[in-house]
Amino acid sequence: MPVAECTIAATDLTPLIGARIDADAGTLLSGGHAAQIRALLAARGVLVFPAAALSDEQQIAFTATLGTPAHENNGTLGPDGKPQAIYKVDAAQDDQHAIRRLRNNFLWHLDGSMHEVPILASILSAKRIAPAGGQTEWANSCAAFAALPMEEQAELAKLRVVHANWALAARQNPEPSYAEFQQSRRGPSKSQPLVWQHASGRKSLVVGSTAAYVEGMDPVESQDLLVRLRDWVTRPQFVYRHEWQVGDMVMWDNTATLHRALPYEMNCGRLMHRTMLKGEEPIA
Ligand SMILES: [Fe+2]
Repeated sequence: MPVAECTIAATDLTPLIGARIDADAGTLLSGGHAAQIRALLAARGVLVFPAAALSDEQQIAFTATLGTPAHENNGTLGPDGKPQAIYKVDAAQDDQHAIRRLRNNFLWHLDGSMHEVPILASILSAKRIAPAGGQTEWANSCAAFAALPMEEQAELAKLRVVHANWALAARQNPEPSYAEFQQSRRGPSKSQPLVWQHASGRKSLVVGSTAAYVEGMDPVESQDLLVRLRDWVTRPQFVYRHEWQVGDMVMWDNTATLHRALPYEMNCGRLMHRTMLKGEEPIA
């Protein structure tokens, strides 16, 4: 087989994060390039498939070539009452709970930071885009950790951070009623290492909007460290920003990046269809 049929063309988008893959739907769906795509995902954090324009069925099939598909546990339920393989990230929302959940996406985070095993990856396809705002940004949390001085890396690796739903809720509702606070406190909360030592040998910083406090640290020092590290990870040299066009598909390594959407108006029409790959290792 000629070499051209064995590999797909990938172009780096920035020095430290992101690659563009130009491949047609048939090539992606064949599964013949799954190993290469997984390797690129690990190496580049974010993979952009411009104008891929996959249907829902094609996106589900493509996702399944790369690992074990995961289903949203808080997403759309189908007519059968079961979670759907495609989750619709839809700006058309009118209840406060759904609006808050969408607005949580405007804050830097990784998905499943309060879970034992976060999802490995997400794939988003743009069906309709916001007339203003709504870009997505990703930050390479492995590259950011690697760029810290060795002594600091060693110190950070000793620390644990509690990630909690109440801390996330407080960012949108800083003065909750006691009943609201009790409600947010009933949500998940989990102690995680600040530095994720991946089975591959890579290390990444686990920070973002769910980070409540560093265990055993003075509250002000804890906040100082969490803000400084989130600010560090999201510096421009570690970030790729995607300006969506209808039909674009973007996949990201959720274990080695943080992400956020830039703000957009509710009910502006923005619609993304999302699939996910099940996590393969705990934060440890
Ligand atoms: Fe997210």
